[in-house]
Amino acid sequence: MKPLEQNVIEDLVVAASRVRAAAHVPYSKFRVGAALMDEDGEVYTGCNVENASYGLSVCAERHAVAAAVAAGASRFHALVVFTNASPPVSPCGACRQVLSEFGNFPVILANSAGERVQTSVEELLPLAFSAADLR
Ligand code: THU
Repeated sequence: MKPLEQNVIEDLVVAASRVRAAAHVPYSKFRVGAALMDEDGEVYTGCNVENASYGLSVCAERHAVAAAVAAGASRFHALVVFTNASPPVSPCGACRQVLSEFGNFPVILANSAGERVQTSVEELLPLAFSAADLR
């Protein structure tokens, strides 16, 4: 997968950093922001939203996917996951499976210290279970 355009990465970092401020994290205090660009250049964002019933907490990445799908988008150009952790965090297993539903695209792990790690959905979840397995 070829490297993403630098301006796309930085635009998504700004969007993910902004939405991260809205995270509802009274339990972990660990804020995550995600920004997902579709193939038309539209950007959809999500933050993690925790719950007193801990298992109902939802990650930033899945909220960004839901926002995109609700707006009619399903073909993605890139995702940025933004925290203040070093090294930058990568999506949990559940989010990897949800991302893989929408094919393979670049995923950039980023943090407030300026670290950027580029990977991809397929690299994060090799041999994924997919719609093809249901045929
Ligand atoms: N979390 C995310 O939102 N995305 C990730 O990639 C890793 C973990 C959230 C879930 C929970 O609200 C908090 O971070 C701590 O696990």
